[in-house]
Amino acid sequence: MPEKNQTKETKSAKKEPKTKKTLSKEDLKEPKDDNWIDEIVSKKEKTIAKEKISDAPIRSIPGIGPAVAEKLMSAGYLTLTSVAHASPMELVEFCEIGEQTANKIISTARSQVGIGFKKASEILNLREKVSKIPTGSKALDSLLMGGIETKSITELSGEFRTGKSQICFQLCVNTALDKKHGGLESGVIFIDTEGTFRPERIIDMCGRFGKDVDTEQVLNRINVGRAYNSDHQMLLVLESPKIITENNVKLIVIDSLTSHFRAEYTGKGTILERQQKLNKFLHQLLRLADVYDLAIVVTNQVQTKPDVLIGESTTPIGGNIVAHSCTTRIFLRKGKGDKRIARVIDSPSIPETEAIFRITKIGIEDVDSS
Ligand SMILES: Nc1ncnc2c1ncn2[C@@H]1O[C@H](COP(=O)(O)OP(=O)(O)O)[C@@H](O)[C@H]1O
Ligand SMILES: [Mg+2]
Repeated sequence: MPEKNQTKETKSAKKEPKTKKTLSKEDLKEPKDDNWIDEIVSKKEKTIAKEKISDAPIRSIPGIGPAVAEKLMSAGYLTLTSVAHASPMELVEFCEIGEQTANKIISTARSQVGIGFKKASEILNLREKVSKIPTGSKALDSLLMGGIETKSITELSGEFRTGKSQICFQLCVNTALDKKHGGLESGVIFIDTEGTFRPERIIDMCGRFGKDVDTEQVLNRINVGRAYNSDHQMLLVLESPKIITENNVKLIVIDSLTSHFRAEYTGKGTILERQQKLNKFLHQLLRLADVYDLAIVVTNQVQTKPDVLIGESTTPIGGNIVAHSCTTRIFLRKGKGDKRIARVIDSPSIPETEAIFRITKIGIEDVDSS
């Protein structure tokens, strides 16, 4: 009964203001049920002897009271390193503490962790631990040097029907699939802001991996949260650590990152507030990627550049905030028929090159696959 569901969804979407009212700003700042933080911290504390000082929990920074520790943890700063790498203004903004306190905490954390230089070989070792999720197309994988990376945010931007959601579905399947079928055998969180998640497509995409794929299990590894407004979207991410630990989540999809923000903050005078909120949201995502070693994939719409007459006339939404927070940015455009072109527009290690792939019934494929 897809029609019935549709009506239900439209109805609840109309109730939006009500949902908005119940989610006060206070809820977002200080989540009351943050047992998950204690769970993570106590787990970390138990294993601390085996771990490096850089992974030590916030509570072990000398001179930090429980109230400040709580504020830091609520904002996602769980380890000494995360504080040592933070800027004072970041802590002031996200943890609501004074600038003096922020400076003191950061310098103590830095002296404990011993911030300084690392050998390139050490960094290479850490880089080798980053996992990659294959996209389904060899051309796209090779463009991305193996696939979508954990510990970072990848942005898929492009016009309507360029394949942003389809790539996300394929990544869900490739993460949830058993290892014997080439998957990561891991959980997924899918935050659906536009009501476009389609489990039928997940089933379609499982088809190419053979008849013995446990489709039911793949579906059960994907945890879908339908976000009805930007506050709700942020709240779902705040609640995700529990699901992440219980389901060994390796991929979080936000499809789309900007649609609610764009719809809710329309006037020129609201841009600053929108950007601050978007910044906070991306910041939370980056913390999750780092702490839990998982991949974050966000989709983004594009807007027309008014001043461009020659060349690419559209640009992803979100300005510098999104541009700086996403480690790898992929721009998608339509080709002939089912073909799509992906171009890396920003990456620390991939040249600005293109790959062509296809979207078919069974998912993301290479052009010459049939
Ligand atoms: N079952 C299917 N079989 C083949 N192609 C499909 C199927 N479902 C969707 N597509 C393709 O995916 C496109 C939509 O891509 P999508 O990722 O939803 O776009 P968007 O970039 O707006 O998220 C459609 O235009 C169609 O070409
Ligand atoms: Mg879409």
